[in-house]
Amino acid sequence: MKSVIDTLDLTVEELDDLISVAEDIIKNPDNYSERCHGKKLATLFFEPSTRTRLSFEAAMYELGGHVLSVAGENVSSTAKGESIADTAKVVSCYADIIAMRHSKEGAAFVAAKNATVPLINAGDGGHCHPTQTLADLLTIHREKGTFNHLTVGLCGDLKYGRTVHSLINALSRYEGINFVLISPEELRLPEYMKTEVIEKAGMHYIEMTSLEDALPQLDILYMTRIQQERFDNKDDYERLKDSYVLTAEKMQSAKSDCSVLHPLPRVNEISVGVDNDPRACYFRQAENGKYMRMALILKLLGDVDTVASDAQYIHGKHCHNPRCITSCEQELEHLFKLSADGKTYRCVYCEEAEQNA
Ligand code: NCD
Repeated sequence: MKSVIDTLDLTVEELDDLISVAEDIIKNPDNYSERCHGKKLATLFFEPSTRTRLSFEAAMYELGGHVLSVAGENVSSTAKGESIADTAKVVSCYADIIAMRHSKEGAAFVAAKNATVPLINAGDGGHCHPTQTLADLLTIHREKGTFNHLTVGLCGDLKYGRTVHSLINALSRYEGINFVLISPEELRLPEYMKTEVIEKAGMHYIEMTSLEDALPQLDILYMTRIQQERFDNKDDYERLKDSYVLTAEKMQSAKSDCSVLHPLPRVNEISVGVDNDPRACYFRQAENGKYMRMALILKLLGDVDTVASDAQYIHGKHCHNPRCITSCEQELEHLFKLSADGKTYRCVYCEEAEQNA
């Protein structure tokens, strides 16, 4: 049984297959309308969501399956103190596949280790959001026809924006991507993403603070909202929340075929005046998410791979990240892995580096 915690759990060939299936679903929806007959998807959303949960549910209905849904952190037994591990074991008795969103980094990893059915990470804190990346990839494929040799600007909250992390993981496996990382100093992409993902893949990146300066060179502009709910200090959020606003006027300096993506929800970082620009792809992107989730559900329900065992991990170290699932899940063993540089130990749940005492 295979689970998807990050885009890296899917090979490039599997991503390509998912895109082909999604394209076929778009062309021939009737061929898919009974493919999940008698199957149940459980959607466990312990954090707010509109698109992700509803598109998962619409995906399962359009495949002829059924949906069991928990939405909100106060409406399930987790509010009574039930662990993620127990929740995953129990929901596996009722559903054939699970999509889960949780505020703690690594929560989906814990759930997947304990579920006996495939589990899909629908967002774990500021860490990863692989199915948003599937929506992003189908959008790039449909708008650009390629994933290679593109200059991709990522703008906004690159520190806490989980969609950014998963998208960079995915694009780094193609060829010749030039990343332009546009953010305030405080919200830069985490260091490990630069060294262990982008540099390791031999891709180029540049960090900038000005959207206006970056815009003219971009083939893709991926805008993100400042992630208010991840800030420890609300004054910092207030200071940074209006860092970027893309307007129709600014779009005049963008390339004529620059595609503007946004995972949504938008707050104010794209003015509504941009929505009618043919280069604005974000509503098409939201629709693409449903087709890719249909393709992923079909794949996972037909798959038989197993989740990796703990033997490959390093035991006896402690994660100090307060946003990590290890900070609250009872009796969860702290596990580490050696990073790509061979020098740093990283928590397998949230990927924070070990802090030396
Ligand atoms: C994103 C998320 O939840 O990370 N939303 C989504 O799933 N489309 C982006 C965001 O909340 O900013």
